[in-house]
Amino acid sequence: MAEELKIAAGGKAERYALLCEQVENLLRGETDEVARMANLAAMIHFTFGFFWTGFYRVAGEELVLGPFQGPLACMRIRYGRGVCGTAWKEGSTLVVPDVEQFPGHIACSSLSRSEIVVPLRRNGTVWGVLDIDSKELATFDETDARWLERIVAML
Ligand code: SME
Repeated sequence: MAEELKIAAGGKAERYALLCEQVENLLRGETDEVARMANLAAMIHFTFGFFWTGFYRVAGEELVLGPFQGPLACMRIRYGRGVCGTAWKEGSTLVVPDVEQFPGHIACSSLSRSEIVVPLRRNGTVWGVLDIDSKELATFDETDARWLERIVAML
């Protein structure tokens, strides 16, 4: 039986710390990449109650939708396009406090107001991104960026 997700009381840092421990335990027992990404998306999503949490993987010149939690999403994003394609191109985490202020932002849902995209790296190459959307402005900051970078490094 799958373990139940535990959510820490307190602030962001406490929640991420407990999440991190659980991710480590969960991933240790599974080698399949899609299974790992699927449960990781669910754990992040339900720990914080985000609007959309999921992965895109690099396939040629595009990012292709992977495991996610939330409403339907765009299936393909070109290199350098939107927040996801830009994070892939730059190879760095992008925190977007107001998506309307991000030139070229791709609106999969009009309800999304702020976003964070964290590149997934293997041997120095970006092989995908973690994308999280919030219905509130300025949900994400440096705390999210650092913890999420640490979490995706476990994939
Ligand atoms: N907003 C993203 C597209 C993906 S969805 O938010 C799930 C972007 O601009 O790349």
